[in-house]
Amino acid sequence: MTKNTYYVTTPIYYPTAKPHLGSAYTTIAADILARWNRLADKDVFFLTGTDDHGKKLQEAAEKAGLKPETFVDHIVPQFQEAWKKLNLHYDRFIRTTDSDHEQVVQTILSEMHKKGDIYEGYYEGLYCTACEAYYTEKDLTEGNCPIHKKPVEKIKEESYFFKLSKYQKKLLAHYKKNPDFISPEGRRQEVINRVKEGLQDLSISRTTFSWGVPLPFDKGHVAWVWFDALLNYISGIGYLEKQEMFNKFWPADVHLIGKDILWFHAVIWPAILMSAGIKLPKKIFAHGWLTIKGDKIGKSAGNAVDLDTLSAKIGVDSLRYVLFRETPFGQDGEFSQDVFIERHNNELANKLGNLVSRLSNLAEKYGMQKTKTELESRSMINKASKHIDGLEFDRALNEIFGFVDRINHFLQEKKPWETGDAKVIYQAANALKDVTILLYPFMPDTAEKIAKTFHFEISKESLNKDLGINKIKKAHILFKKIEITQNKMAFPPFKKQDEKKIEKVDSKLNENVGKSEEKSRSTINFDDFAKLDLRVGKITDVKEHPQADKLFVLTVNMGEARPRTIVAGLRNRYKKEELVGKKAVFVANLAPRMLKGVESNGMILAAAAEDDGQVIILSPERDIKEGSKIR
Ligand code: MSP
Repeated sequence: MTKNTYYVTTPIYYPTAKPHLGSAYTTIAADILARWNRLADKDVFFLTGTDDHGKKLQEAAEKAGLKPETFVDHIVPQFQEAWKKLNLHYDRFIRTTDSDHEQVVQTILSEMHKKGDIYEGYYEGLYCTACEAYYTEKDLTEGNCPIHKKPVEKIKEESYFFKLSKYQKKLLAHYKKNPDFISPEGRRQEVINRVKEGLQDLSISRTTFSWGVPLPFDKGHVAWVWFDALLNYISGIGYLEKQEMFNKFWPADVHLIGKDILWFHAVIWPAILMSAGIKLPKKIFAHGWLTIKGDKIGKSAGNAVDLDTLSAKIGVDSLRYVLFRETPFGQDGEFSQDVFIERHNNELANKLGNLVSRLSNLAEKYGMQKTKTELESRSMINKASKHIDGLEFDRALNEIFGFVDRINHFLQEKKPWETGDAKVIYQAANALKDVTILLYPFMPDTAEKIAKTFHFEISKESLNKDLGINKIKKAHILFKKIEITQNKMAFPPFKKQDEKKIEKVDSKLNENVGKSEEKSRSTINFDDFAKLDLRVGKITDVKEHPQADKLFVLTVNMGEARPRTIVAGLRNRYKKEELVGKKAVFVANLAPRMLKGVESNGMILAAAAEDDGQVIILSPERDIKEGSKIR
């Protein structure tokens, strides 16, 4: 008998800064699966949360001048708020600082230690704090971390090791016996090949910092953050405290993860479970990255797309839709403004939105009359369902929207606005019901609005039942078309060929700012001056602006929790190396401005030399802490 439960997880995110589009990607996918399985009447558990411990977090907290616990308590609610805004209905938000979780970590560590799978040793090797992972020389790309492209750290410290090598054969046997365990197939092969090369025992504790779960058998060590984090998947459903719930949901149906963390999930995690005598999850699905110009969107890459701006301006459902419409879930997908707007306008506003508005209008005017349907939806339902179950979201949406096209053609052909044929209107509305139910996991709000207009329930039963006849009122507009000029958001840089468009958007966005600049150049009073927030900032990174030869895109630390991106016209005068590490004076409270498609959050102060017109930046005369105010 198959269990009528469904347990889906996301990775737990490092709360070093508020979430961005990249972190939202997996969490939305998990919500789609959770909603889909709830629709199928399964008892669903959807777990997400944050990975609060580790060196990376401790460093981020130090940078912000806060204790790690204060720092994470400040950031974590920003994840919860973001997920709420995106309409993500999880069943638990776990934090690795939750006491029930810490207890599970200690219990499992003790058991593995007693069993002899954990032993004391000395670790000497490489570590990337951004990944929180150990590397060997041969893993590196040009001497750098292969993921973050930044130098790795050499560490030497006492450490406890997990006998990972002992599990090589068992793991290979498991992969062979369970071909669906790692998905997609290409990634599965990569893992198998690497495991075949051999496994080394793994350092699982650290002594050079303290922000973690202490080892129960040696309090001078804290657990390596990945060991701690992976266990969230069992502690999140009550491994120690709620046995009944744990037995109900474990093993997980699917761990959704990004491809960069597959090794931890497909090798280390199952080995830990084998050692602890716990069943293995059914599936690990590694999706691709959302990229901008081929680079992974992320905090460390400095190309994070702000979720609030994006969803506030575009709408949550459009965002949820477009993210999964374009790219197959397992592959990398380029996030492009053009594609986004095109799909929003063409598929959501034109095709779906117009259908709902036209049909509700017709139904209000002419009513509906039941009849045998020419718009048979069964095959679309079967195919789309199979695709969602198989995590092929793009293919599911393709099927569904193919059917939306069919409904639109049907109406175009029958022209009920000329004939007033209530039977035609009914057939189209009945077909729209099925489309809506299948779209619900992707666009819950929109689906609920349509269901309300046409008076049906979003449920599995409703798919198999004909639409009832009710009085219909014309629906409100579901999607407003997005004009390029309305597009005031921190969108990723445009493609090179869009130069003209960029100029247009820049000038539109800067219209108001422009106006205030036209004010007279007479004297100002002190209150005016006091409005300026001038601060010392440290330039930590410099990149060429992708669109403008004169501009640099600076990453500037102004003593805040997050560094800022500031665009500056320094490229004719300075080399990148001259700027990195330099402290200078910045206007900290300038409203964000789009400069050739990149949002600038402040301005560097520079003098224009009288003699040769050269630009010279203003640096403090002696070293001073970033964030210091200038008065
Ligand atoms: N804390 C660990 C996970 C522990 S799970 C037991 C971690 N955190 S993370 O915040 O760095 O990343 C979490 C997830 O977000 C990863 O799966 C990563 O692939 C995903 N993404 C981050 N940026 C992304 C994109 N630009 N695109 C798609 N997913 C991305 O790793």
